Amino acid sequence: MTIILKKCTLEDSSKLQEISYETFNETFKDQNSPENMIAYLERAFNLNQLEKELSIISSQFFFVYFNNEVAGYLKVNTKDAQSEEMGEESLEIERIYIKNKFQKHGLGKYLLNKALEIAMELNKTKIWLGVWEKNENAIAFYKKMGFVQTGVHSFYMGDEEQIDFIMTKTLI
Ligand SMILES: CC(C)(COP(=O)(O)OP(=O)(O)OC[C@H]1O[C@@H](n2cnc3c(N)ncnc32)[C@H](O)[C@@H]1OP(=O)(O)O)[C@@H](O)C(=O)NCCC(=O)NCCS
Repeated sequence: MTIILKKCTLEDSSKLQEISYETFNETFKDQNSPENMIAYLERAFNLNQLEKELSIISSQFFFVYFNNEVAGYLKVNTKDAQSEEMGEESLEIERIYIKNKFQKHGLGKYLLNKALEIAMELNKTKIWLGVWEKNENAIAFYKKMGFVQTGVHSFYMGDEEQIDFIMTKTLI
Protein backbone atom coordinates (compact mmCIF):
# COMPACT_ATOMS: atom_id res chain seq x y z
CA MET A 1 0.00 0.00 0.00
CA THR A 2 1.57 3.29 -1.11
CA ILE A 3 0.19 6.72 -0.26
CA ILE A 4 1.66 9.69 -2.10
CA LEU A 5 0.79 13.38 -1.86
CA LYS A 6 1.30 15.66 -4.85
CA LYS A 7 0.81 19.42 -4.99
CA CYS A 8 -1.30 20.36 -8.03
CA THR A 9 -0.11 22.76 -10.72
CA LEU A 10 -1.93 24.45 -13.59
CA GLU A 11 -1.23 21.39 -15.74
CA ASP A 12 -3.43 19.32 -13.43
CA SER A 13 -6.65 21.19 -14.22
CA SER A 14 -8.25 18.34 -16.23
CA LYS A 15 -7.38 15.73 -13.65
CA LEU A 16 -8.70 18.05 -10.95
CA GLN A 17 -11.92 18.54 -12.89
CA GLU A 18 -12.37 14.78 -13.21
CA ILE A 19 -11.98 14.02 -9.50
CA SER A 20 -14.00 17.11 -8.50
CA TYR A 21 -16.97 15.98 -10.60
CA GLU A 22 -16.70 12.37 -9.48
CA THR A 23 -16.46 13.03 -5.74
CA PHE A 24 -19.05 15.82 -5.71
CA ASN A 25 -21.52 13.56 -7.53
CA GLU A 26 -20.84 10.62 -5.23
CA THR A 27 -21.31 12.79 -2.14
CA PHE A 28 -24.33 14.90 -3.02
CA LYS A 29 -26.38 13.47 -5.89
CA ASP A 30 -28.74 11.44 -3.69
CA GLN A 31 -29.83 14.49 -1.67
CA ASN A 32 -30.05 17.13 -4.43
CA SER A 33 -31.97 17.66 -7.66
CA PRO A 34 -30.18 16.88 -10.96
CA GLU A 35 -30.76 20.50 -12.08
CA ASN A 36 -29.08 21.96 -9.01
CA MET A 37 -26.24 19.45 -9.24
CA ILE A 38 -25.57 20.30 -12.91
CA ALA A 39 -25.75 24.04 -12.23
CA TYR A 40 -23.25 23.74 -9.39
CA LEU A 41 -20.86 21.40 -11.21
CA GLU A 42 -20.77 23.62 -14.28
CA ARG A 43 -20.20 26.77 -12.29
CA ALA A 44 -17.69 25.46 -9.77
CA PHE A 45 -15.70 22.97 -11.80
CA ASN A 46 -15.46 24.35 -15.34
CA LEU A 47 -11.87 24.40 -16.56
CA ASN A 48 -11.59 28.20 -16.60
CA GLN A 49 -12.72 28.39 -12.99
CA LEU A 50 -10.35 25.64 -11.85
CA GLU A 51 -7.42 27.19 -13.71
CA LYS A 52 -8.18 30.51 -12.05
CA GLU A 53 -8.23 28.84 -8.62
CA LEU A 54 -5.01 26.93 -9.33
CA SER A 55 -3.30 30.26 -10.11
CA ILE A 56 -4.19 31.95 -6.83
CA ILE A 57 -1.07 32.21 -4.67
CA SER A 58 -3.01 31.87 -1.38
CA SER A 59 -4.75 28.65 -2.47
CA GLN A 60 -3.16 25.22 -2.68
CA PHE A 61 -4.53 21.96 -4.11
CA PHE A 62 -3.15 18.48 -3.43
CA PHE A 63 -3.94 15.05 -4.84
CA VAL A 64 -3.55 11.99 -2.66
CA TYR A 65 -2.60 8.86 -4.61
CA PHE A 66 -3.37 5.39 -3.29
CA ASN A 67 -1.42 2.70 -5.14
CA ASN A 68 -0.84 5.08 -8.09
CA GLU A 69 -4.51 6.08 -8.46
CA VAL A 70 -5.81 9.54 -7.53
CA ALA A 71 -7.95 8.73 -4.49
CA GLY A 72 -8.86 12.21 -3.30
CA TYR A 73 -7.93 15.86 -3.12
CA LEU A 74 -7.56 18.80 -0.76
CA LYS A 75 -7.92 22.53 -1.29
CA VAL A 76 -6.74 25.00 1.36
CA ASN A 77 -6.98 28.79 1.36
CA THR A 78 -5.31 31.53 3.37
CA LYS A 79 -5.51 35.33 3.45
CA ASP A 80 -8.16 36.77 1.12
CA ALA A 81 -8.55 33.49 -0.79
CA GLN A 82 -10.69 32.29 2.14
CA SER A 83 -14.39 32.10 1.29
CA GLU A 84 -15.27 34.08 4.44
CA GLU A 85 -13.36 36.97 5.99
CA MET A 86 -11.65 34.98 8.73
CA GLY A 87 -8.47 37.03 8.78
CA GLU A 88 -4.73 36.44 8.54
CA GLU A 89 -4.67 34.05 11.50
CA SER A 90 -6.86 31.44 9.79
CA LEU A 91 -6.55 28.72 7.20
CA GLU A 92 -9.63 27.35 5.42
CA ILE A 93 -10.09 23.80 4.23
CA GLU A 94 -12.37 24.55 1.29
CA ARG A 95 -12.48 21.04 -0.17
CA ILE A 96 -11.50 17.65 1.14
CA TYR A 97 -12.82 14.73 -0.86
CA ILE A 98 -11.94 11.04 -0.94
CA LYS A 99 -13.51 8.79 -3.59
CA ASN A 100 -16.08 6.42 -2.08
CA LYS A 101 -14.05 3.29 -2.70
CA PHE A 102 -11.04 4.73 -0.82
CA GLN A 103 -12.92 6.08 2.20
CA LYS A 104 -12.34 4.83 5.76
CA HIS A 105 -8.71 3.93 5.05
CA GLY A 106 -7.16 6.93 6.75
CA LEU A 107 -6.79 9.09 3.64
CA GLY A 108 -9.14 11.85 4.84
CA LYS A 109 -7.12 12.08 8.05
CA TYR A 110 -3.92 12.14 5.97
CA LEU A 111 -5.16 15.15 3.97
CA LEU A 112 -6.50 16.88 7.06
CA ASN A 113 -3.13 16.45 8.75
CA LYS A 114 -1.49 18.01 5.69
CA ALA A 115 -3.78 21.04 6.10
CA LEU A 116 -2.83 21.22 9.79
CA GLU A 117 0.86 21.01 8.89
CA ILE A 118 0.52 23.92 6.43
CA ALA A 119 -1.39 25.96 9.00
CA MET A 120 1.32 25.37 11.63
CA GLU A 121 4.10 26.25 9.19
CA LEU A 122 2.34 29.51 8.41
CA ASN A 123 1.81 30.22 12.13
CA LYS A 124 -1.97 30.19 11.81
CA THR A 125 -3.97 29.91 15.01
CA LYS A 126 -7.20 28.51 13.53
CA ILE A 127 -8.25 26.08 10.85
CA TRP A 128 -11.87 26.22 9.69
CA LEU A 129 -14.28 24.87 7.08
CA GLY A 130 -17.90 24.94 5.96
CA VAL A 131 -19.85 21.69 5.82
CA TRP A 132 -23.46 21.15 4.71
CA GLU A 133 -25.68 20.59 7.75
CA LYS A 134 -26.96 17.36 6.13
CA ASN A 135 -23.49 15.90 5.48
CA GLU A 136 -23.51 13.78 8.63
CA ASN A 137 -20.59 11.64 7.55
CA ALA A 138 -18.24 14.59 7.11
CA ILE A 139 -19.48 16.30 10.30
CA ALA A 140 -18.71 13.12 12.29
CA PHE A 141 -15.26 12.97 10.70
CA TYR A 142 -14.49 16.61 11.54
CA LYS A 143 -15.67 16.16 15.14
CA LYS A 144 -13.41 13.12 15.41
CA MET A 145 -10.57 15.33 14.17
CA GLY A 146 -11.21 17.90 16.90
CA PHE A 147 -13.35 20.50 15.10
CA VAL A 148 -16.29 22.19 16.83
CA GLN A 149 -19.17 24.14 15.32
CA THR A 150 -18.59 27.89 15.58
CA GLY A 151 -21.16 29.33 13.18
CA VAL A 152 -23.21 28.95 10.02
CA HIS A 153 -23.11 30.37 6.51
CA SER A 154 -25.13 30.05 3.31
CA PHE A 155 -24.09 27.90 0.40
CA TYR A 156 -25.83 27.93 -2.99
CA MET A 157 -26.43 24.59 -4.69
CA GLY A 158 -27.83 25.82 -7.99
CA ASP A 159 -30.66 28.12 -6.93
CA GLU A 160 -31.17 26.45 -3.55
CA GLU A 161 -29.84 28.14 -0.45
CA GLN A 162 -28.39 25.57 1.95
CA ILE A 163 -27.00 25.96 5.45
CA ASP A 164 -23.37 25.12 6.06
CA PHE A 165 -22.03 24.69 9.57
CA ILE A 166 -18.75 26.48 10.11
CA MET A 167 -16.44 24.22 12.09
CA THR A 168 -13.17 25.33 13.62
CA LYS A 169 -10.14 23.80 15.27
CA THR A 170 -7.91 26.05 17.36
CA LEU A 171 -4.21 25.36 16.94
CA ILE A 172 -2.74 26.94 20.05
C1 LIG B 1 -15.22 12.97 5.12
C2 LIG B 1 -14.04 12.22 4.48
C3 LIG B 1 -13.05 13.24 3.92
C4 LIG B 1 -13.35 11.37 5.56
O1 LIG B 1 -12.28 10.68 4.95
P1 LIG B 1 -12.01 9.12 5.20
O2 LIG B 1 -10.78 8.76 4.46
O3 LIG B 1 -13.24 8.35 4.91
O4 LIG B 1 -11.78 9.09 6.79
P2 LIG B 1 -10.55 8.41 7.57
O5 LIG B 1 -10.51 6.97 7.22
O6 LIG B 1 -9.32 9.19 7.34
O7 LIG B 1 -11.04 8.57 9.07
C5 LIG B 1 -10.30 9.30 10.05
C6 LIG B 1 -10.96 9.10 11.39
O8 LIG B 1 -12.29 9.64 11.34
C7 LIG B 1 -13.23 8.62 11.67
N1 LIG B 1 -14.39 8.75 10.79
C8 LIG B 1 -14.42 8.85 9.44
N2 LIG B 1 -15.69 8.92 9.00
C9 LIG B 1 -16.46 8.85 10.12
C10 LIG B 1 -17.86 8.85 10.34
N3 LIG B 1 -18.73 8.93 9.32
N4 LIG B 1 -18.33 8.75 11.61
C11 LIG B 1 -17.48 8.67 12.65
N5 LIG B 1 -16.12 8.65 12.52
C12 LIG B 1 -15.64 8.75 11.25
C13 LIG B 1 -12.52 7.31 11.37
O9 LIG B 1 -13.07 6.26 12.14
C14 LIG B 1 -11.11 7.63 11.75
O10 LIG B 1 -10.93 7.51 13.16
P3 LIG B 1 -9.53 6.99 13.80
O11 LIG B 1 -8.52 8.07 13.52
O12 LIG B 1 -9.84 6.83 15.23
O13 LIG B 1 -9.21 5.71 13.08
C15 LIG B 1 -14.52 11.26 3.37
O14 LIG B 1 -15.47 10.37 3.92
C16 LIG B 1 -15.14 11.95 2.18
O15 LIG B 1 -14.42 12.36 1.27
N6 LIG B 1 -16.48 12.06 2.14
C17 LIG B 1 -17.19 12.57 0.97
C18 LIG B 1 -16.83 14.01 0.65
C19 LIG B 1 -17.17 14.96 1.74
O16 LIG B 1 -18.24 14.91 2.34
N7 LIG B 1 -16.23 15.88 1.97
C20 LIG B 1 -16.40 16.93 2.93
C21 LIG B 1 -17.13 18.05 2.31
S1 LIG B 1 -17.30 19.37 3.49
